[in-house]
Amino acid sequence: MKLPELMGHRGAAAHAPENTLASLRKAKGFGLGWVEFDVQLSADDVPVLMHDDRLHRTTGDRRKIAEVPAEELLALDAGAWFGPEFAGETVPHFSSVLALLGALDLAANIEIKPSPGLARETAEAGLTLAKAEWPAALPLPLISSFEIEALEVAQALWHEAPRAYLMKQLPAEWQETADRLGCLSLHLWHPAITAKTVAAIKKADYQIAAYTVNGAERARALLDLGVDCLITDDPPALAPLFGVS
Ligand code: G3P
Ligand code: MG
Repeated sequence: MKLPELMGHRGAAAHAPENTLASLRKAKGFGLGWVEFDVQLSADDVPVLMHDDRLHRTTGDRRKIAEVPAEELLALDAGAWFGPEFAGETVPHFSSVLALLGALDLAANIEIKPSPGLARETAEAGLTLAKAEWPAALPLPLISSFEIEALEVAQALWHEAPRAYLMKQLPAEWQETADRLGCLSLHLWHPAITAKTVAAIKKADYQIAAYTVNGAERARALLDLGVDCLITDDPPALAPLFGVS
């Protein structure tokens, strides 16, 4: 599979509250074909979209996500912090996200983003659900994680879905790990990407995605270096390159 050139980050996080259904709709509205988002577990092992392991930044709740049962979590307002027009936008159940992806014809990079110590559980619950409910008309999702254990679960549980090894910068043993996990791509923090990094990754025959790229100048430089995919909060900021609106 060839990576898309552009993916929305947490939906379109500069324009709508991250990891909500509104953010996915916003990304589609900008003309994107792919989005990235973060999957975590409630206290009772229900997969939802959330980035932080603490709920405060996006919901105002003082607890950790791993302490809150789904019934309460799914009722939390995850939109009002971003703007009054998004008040009432709740933490989405992963199942609602999968249904919306199908309805919007929007492909996805599922990032498994476990609370500390929950890599296996998060990957198992998230990917079991995704595999059962994945919209048949969409390409299989790209499954990424910073957690090697989560990628091992993905490899065993849903082998056909491509995997991406997510990292801030390249660790010494990156190629051995990516080979063992059968990855399609490596996803790196964009400031860590240099011509040397790109050359090493390309030599090993992996594709490269860069996160989170929100300026057209840097986007152009990364594409010129040979980066295959840019993950952005702000699709319109990259409009000069991609013609998104
Ligand atoms: O998947 C790319 C990017 O989302 C990884 O970092 O912290 O934004 O999930 P983070
Ligand atoms: Mg992410």
